[in-house]
Amino acid sequence: MATAPTTDLGFRPVRIAGTGSYLPEKVMTNEDLATLVDTSDEWITTRTGIKERRIAAEDQFTSHLASEAAKAACEQAGIAPEDLELIIVATITPDTLTPSTACYVQEQLGAEKAVAFDVSAACSGFLYAMEIAQSLIATGGRGNALIVGAEKLSAFVNWTDRNTCVLFGDGAGAAVLTPAEEGQGRILSSTMGTDGRQAELLNIPGGGSACPITLSNAEEKLATLAMQGREVFKHAVNAMRRASEEAIEQAGLKPADINLVIPHQANLRIIDAIIDRLEVSKDDVFINLDKYGNTSAAAVAIALDEANRQGRISPGDHILLVAFGAGLTWASAAIQW
Ligand code: UT7
Repeated sequence: MATAPTTDLGFRPVRIAGTGSYLPEKVMTNEDLATLVDTSDEWITTRTGIKERRIAAEDQFTSHLASEAAKAACEQAGIAPEDLELIIVATITPDTLTPSTACYVQEQLGAEKAVAFDVSAACSGFLYAMEIAQSLIATGGRGNALIVGAEKLSAFVNWTDRNTCVLFGDGAGAAVLTPAEEGQGRILSSTMGTDGRQAELLNIPGGGSACPITLSNAEEKLATLAMQGREVFKHAVNAMRRASEEAIEQAGLKPADINLVIPHQANLRIIDAIIDRLEVSKDDVFINLDKYGNTSAAAVAIALDEANRQGRISPGDHILLVAFGAGLTWASAAIQW
């Protein structure tokens, strides 16, 4: 198990210059799911807080969702895609195993100058991407960077397994990171952690080199998400609480200084347990999982964009982003807006 805090890197500060998000049009409600598996709106609502999720069209891939979110982030940042020097896409549902989804996004945006690659860290992926981009900008290696969390989880869900299919949804969120000038907001701290010993708690067992999909195992739905929910739940609460405390402390802040917490949107009960222990008021926590379910790497990114566009964040505010996911992985960031 390793947690590596990164604070003031001693190089140029980095800010979020713009955010964007994209959600597919098709809404799937809890009632819709009850026609597919033995579940109910009552069970899903009380156990998770989720009411509905979005489902991408058949011909809409993860890269398409990512590019729509990216365009909105670039527009808000006032930065043309041609001026991006780095694109990182966080996803566990890539268009293809290779090349990376970031390559498709680069092409769709016409961002020819940008080096582009994916990060695979499940629900923590957007914050992993943020720390990587921050480091590359801070050291002067890159200028304008685009980070995207994008998922088409509906393509990797076992629609006959009620333990998992009710939880996930599709969507994408993005942010443009640039060097910060004097007087502008900045990323104050970030942490990333991994515990590979718990890899089996949440995974997609098939479709990789360990277990290729063949004619003989095709019926077993091995290329879909499998999760030991209760175990993951416990780890999620502990890891996100620790990561939150670390980011706040590394930033030289106290929990009371945080104006808005934007946590990973997996389960309302997990969020409640974290904020109880952090002693943050529920009014200062951004929640949209009721509308979108768990969109893995996209969740924090979409929530950040919605909070930004709804005016929930003002210049100078301190916000805390925190996530947890398969790996197990976790990550956090404290930001002065
Ligand atoms: O995003 C990355 C990280 N992922 C997470 O953070 C997810 C973490 N885990 C969770 O959010 C929760 O564990 C779940 C929402 C997945 C499950 O909630 P739970 O309260 O832990 O329920 P459970 O798995 O202990 O299941 C309780 C009961 C079981 O029935 P029995 O064995 O008690 O008879 C399940 O079979 O609920 C049953 N059940 C369902 N019933 C109706 C499980 N899924 C469903 C369902 N509808 N969809």
